[in-house]
Parts: sequence; structure tokens; C-alpha cells
Amino acid sequence: MARLLLVSNRLPVTVKVEHGEVLVTRSAGGLATGMKGPHERSGGLWLGYPGDVSRLQPDQRAALEARLEELRYVPLHLSPGEVSRFYEGFSNGVLWPLFHYMLDRVPLGGERDWESYRRVNERFADLVAAHHREGDIVWVHDYQLMLVPGLLRKKIPNARIGFFLHIPFPSSEVFRILPWRTQLLEGLLGADLIGFHTLSYLRHFASALLLVNGLEANVDRVFTEGREVRLGAFPMGIDAAALSTLAGSPEVAAEAQAFRQPGQRILLGIDRLDYTKGIPRRLLALERLLEREPSLRGKVRLVQVTVPSRTNVEAYQGFRSRVDELVGRINGAYATVHSVPIHSMYRSFNERQLASLYRAADVMLVTPLRDGMNLVAKEFVASRTDEDGVLVLSELAGAASELADALLVNPYDIGGVAAALKRALTMPENERRQRMQNLRQHVLEHDVHGWAQSFLSTLEEQSEASHGRA
Ligand code: UDP
Ligand code: G6P
Repeated sequence: MARLLLVSNRLPVTVKVEHGEVLVTRSAGGLATGMKGPHERSGGLWLGYPGDVSRLQPDQRAALEARLEELRYVPLHLSPGEVSRFYEGFSNGVLWPLFHYMLDRVPLGGERDWESYRRVNERFADLVAAHHREGDIVWVHDYQLMLVPGLLRKKIPNARIGFFLHIPFPSSEVFRILPWRTQLLEGLLGADLIGFHTLSYLRHFASALLLVNGLEANVDRVFTEGREVRLGAFPMGIDAAALSTLAGSPEVAAEAQAFRQPGQRILLGIDRLDYTKGIPRRLLALERLLEREPSLRGKVRLVQVTVPSRTNVEAYQGFRSRVDELVGRINGAYATVHSVPIHSMYRSFNERQLASLYRAADVMLVTPLRDGMNLVAKEFVASRTDEDGVLVLSELAGAASELADALLVNPYDIGGVAAALKRALTMPENERRQRMQNLRQHVLEHDVHGWAQSFLSTLEEQSEASHGRA
């Protein structure tokens, strides 16, 4: 089997210094949690940013490098300027909102941030080239590194390169707004295979190629510069068997039981604190429900976990206080001496704690305004070894195209989400079980290992056709 070089902006661990002590914590986000299994199985390397190590003492730094090496992680350190321009400015200030259709979040300007984006992508390509051996497979991930395939192709013309986009690819009418649209598409076309979560993202990409570069794709193939580039839809899964085993353990069942209070139903939300996740409208839907159904007051509690994310990006800064204000307003109006309707926690949880929360919930609320896939929805399903619980899922999340047995909602329609919540809370047990069984079957059958295997075998087939056997 070929050696796999995974390349992503963020490594699955993030280094933090607290009270002079070095902490290596698990990174949040679907890419990091999802790719961990494939990396462990492949025996290859994972190249990416480990977080800010500038405050480490030399001996701490040496110990960290040794630890990363053991895990087969190759760090690419970013300077404070690069974090501010490449990561916060261009990747998360411009690309993230635009690809999620939130144009009002895109700041003016951006020329210097683009320069930094280009340079950091070059640094990534250089690092990959330095580690690359004949026969390796290079798999580049996500919007932060869209130029890497093209840059690497110039350095190693016969390299086997795959690219996967973990966020939506927007309509070409939205994509074309970007002043750097041509360069970004050319960067991606350096890959042998470009993968998306859904067919509709793939179609948007093909339209963008035609509109911006005048390149016509023939279904899932496009010719450029004498090479054929393959396009594919690969809906990402999770490590469903592992999570199912964890969630089915007696410890998790006991912890889940301890979260519950007699006579009270639990609604659950788990998201990075990101404006794409639809948290304010979700809170308004709960408010609407409590307003209309006085009998539910005191009987339902929304447990909302929001994980701190991108706290230096302007669009995220005011957002936290907006969420806090809404939580305060709704709790102020509907709390009783014994209960509050929203139990909000702003921190991250480990896998076991998340599994316990998933197990404790009556209704899981996944209502992003846009989401490439949303793995939380799948994690909830995999955790329900008891085959109970209802998933309310945004039709604007990639996961909706697979999870038809969820209650699908338009996350912008507050009344509609409130109605779905009521339906979820009153759904008869046999219907809940039937839906959960169907959901589980899909999530368990289409897991992250099958996903990685299917992407990599398509990539091998394509690169063999293009460059011959390596
Ligand atoms: N997650 C985590 N710690 C938390 C909450 C969430 O590690 O406290 C993980 C969660 O288990 C999931 C990922 O973060 O695997 C979120 O992925 P998703 O695709 O739902 O959204 P993203 O954050 O990538 O936009
Ligand atoms: C999403 C993106 C990932 C990113 C993650 C966490 O899942 O698709 O590329 O790593 O969010 O965001 P962060 O900016 O902390 O890496």
C-alpha cells in the first residue's frame, strides 16, 4: 500500500500553553476528528499547523517536536502575521463566509491577505515536496489550501495528488465574486482528483470552471493542460463502529442517565461557535415553542454546547455576545425556580462526554444555515445504540442528502423549526425507533473508513491513468 501524506491547515491536535504548562489538546472540527482514523490506519504522515508554540521554552519545544513525531505529525509553524492574514484574514475572513453564502460577512479589501494565503500555500507545498517519496499519495484538505495541488504539481509533475473540500462549494454566481477566482480554480486543478461532500457542490464547481476558466467538464472529468482531472462526490462519514461501542458502554449510559432529570425532555445542540451554525434562529425557535405551548414550560431544556472557535476573526467576536444575550432573554422569560430552558456551555468536551450527551438527548438539533456535511448529526445517530432519539436536521447541511429519516427543516424558518421541535417531542415511540434504525443503518454502513478508501482508490485509478504506475 502506498504511503499517505495528509495535508491540512490544522493538525488533529492543537498545542496550548496554560500557566506555563504545555497542553496538547484534541482539535475541534469535522476535518480533524474525521481524518484521525484514516491517518492511524495508513501509517503515513500528517502535515499541518499545531497551534501557537511561540511561548514554549526550548526544552518544551524539543519535547513537543518529539511527541508530534511519534504521532507521525509534521508541524508547519505559522508566524503571527501569517495567522492574522492567511488564517484569520483570507481563509476565515473571506473564503469561509463566501463559500457559506454569507456575503455580508466578507470584509472589504483583502489584497494583502491574499498575498499571505498564496505564500503560506507555497510553504505547505514546499514542506510536502520535502517529505515526498516516489509512490506516495498526497491528500490535501480544505479551503485553506486550495493552491497547494497546483503548486505541488509544478514541483513534482507526476505526483499523485488528491484534494477534498470539507465545506460547500457555492453556486458559481457566488464564487465568481472572488477577485482571485481564477487562481483558486487553477490551484485545485493541479490535483488528479477533486472531491466534494455532495453532487450539488460538484455541479457548482463544474459550472464555476466553465464560467470562470472556460473549461467544460464531461460529467466527472475535465481536461486541462494536457491532463485529465477527475471530480467526485464522496459524502464523508464518521468512525461509527468506534463511537457506537463507546456510546454503548455502561460508563456512558450511566453518565447519560445522570444528565437527565425526571419529567424533563432534553434538546441538544453541539456546534463550534460559528455564525453558519444557525444558533440564534435555533434559540428563537425554542422561544417560539415555549411561547405557543405553555404546557412545555419547565418540561424541556436545551443543552447547548458551543465550542470556542476563531475568536480573533472579527465576524466571530460580536457573535458570542449576540448568542449570550438571546440565551439570557429566553432564560429570563421562561426559567422557573426549578429549571432554565437553555443550559449553555462555552467550552469543548471530550469524546466520552459528547457520547454521553448524545445518549441523554431526546431531540438533537442540527440547524446550520449552511454546512458542508455536519458530522455532529452522524455522531448523534451512531451514539444511539438504544435506537431512540429524534434528529432535527437542516436541509442546508450536506448530511441532509443522506439522512432522509431525520426531520428536515429550513433553518431560516423559525416557525417551521418550532413546529418540527413539537413534532419531535410528541413523536410516537415506534416512529422514533423506525427512523433511528434507518438512520443508524446508513451511518454505520457509510463510515469514514469506507469514505477514505473510496476516495483513495478513485485517486489511485485516476493517477495511474494520468501518470502511469508510480
Ligand atoms: N467536537 C469536539 N469537541 C466538542 C464539540 C465538538 O471535538 O466539544 C467535534 C465533534 O465531535 C465533531 C466536530 O467537532 O466531530 C464538528 O464537526 P462538524 O462537521 O459537525 O462541524 P465543523 O465544526 O467541522 O464545522
Ligand atoms: C471546519 C473546517 C476545518 C477546520 C474546522 C475548525 O471543519 O472545514 O478545515 O479545521 O472547521 O476550524 P479551525 O479554524 O479551528 O481550524
